[in-house]
Amino acid sequence: MGRMSGKVALVTGAASGIGRACAEVLAREGAIVVLTDVQAGEEVAAGIRVAGGKASFHKHDVTDEARWNTIVAGIAKDHGRLDVLVNNAGIAVAGLVTDLTLEQWRHQMAVNVDGVFLGVKCSLPLMRKSGGGSIINISSIAGLRGAAGLSAYCASKGSVRLFTKSVALECAAMGDGIRCNSIHPGIIETPIWGQVVPGSNEPLDLDAMSAARVPLKRKGMPEDIANAVLFLASAESSYMTGEEMVVDGGMTVGTPQ
Ligand SMILES: NC(=O)c1ccc[n+]([C@@H]2O[C@H](COP(=O)([O-])OP(=O)(O)OC[C@H]3O[C@@H](n4cnc5c(N)ncnc54)[C@H](O)[C@@H]3O)[C@@H](O)[C@H]2O)c1
Repeated sequence: MGRMSGKVALVTGAASGIGRACAEVLAREGAIVVLTDVQAGEEVAAGIRVAGGKASFHKHDVTDEARWNTIVAGIAKDHGRLDVLVNNAGIAVAGLVTDLTLEQWRHQMAVNVDGVFLGVKCSLPLMRKSGGGSIINISSIAGLRGAAGLSAYCASKGSVRLFTKSVALECAAMGDGIRCNSIHPGIIETPIWGQVVPGSNEPLDLDAMSAARVPLKRKGMPEDIANAVLFLASAESSYMTGEEMVVDGGMTVGTPQ
């Protein structure tokens, strides 16, 4: 308890999966958490309040710049500061490169790349006024290596990785006290996997997949990522910026025995 006391955090895509877990963990550690999502998420914020935390939910499409400005202005008015931004909202557009339409490609980029760009651009002024902060962009191991059938997703997540490093360097050069890091989850059990095999009636067996591909032989849970987010959000990581934190049970380290 208390690692985030006095801090205000904004988490996008917080109605589900990893974003939800991030909001819950940050609130449990004392942060005031502003949750946003394109889908309904009031009950997640309500659950945090019932558990004794401080949270509010706002409908928000991360591709909408005007809405970003409204959200950040609301945080300035309600809380007077912003210390942590978790750019988590994301989608996975699957398909062979020859089958993808330009519209699908642009939609993938709009949510996963434009959304992160807008989050940083619109939040930085308030974070700077607050005297510093931590930006955490949720990329993927798909931002570190390719995956057949996921070219658009990989391109979007690779983009987030280098955007993160560039923002980290700009902030460091300004001496504004803001750090910016990316997290690269492996196989985490969330609803996003339903988007990876569109049209298939067979749900992906994440346990079987993880047993075969992950050295630790298990899938990750949203809390595994939320705990990494908490570390990067807190002062415990104050000497880390522009870093890519991989949380994948060893999947990208090498082939499991
Ligand atoms: N689950 C995994 O294995 C995994 C692995 C690597 C990276 N990730 C990344 O983690 C992040 C969270 O995904 P998740 O696994 O929790 O999936 P999820 O589908 O449970 O959550 C994603 C959330 O983003 C929201 N969202 C989608 N489009 C949005 C938009 N335009 N504006 C605002 N919100 C929007 C969704 O409504 C949803 O609540 C994503 O960026 C994803 O790419 C997930």
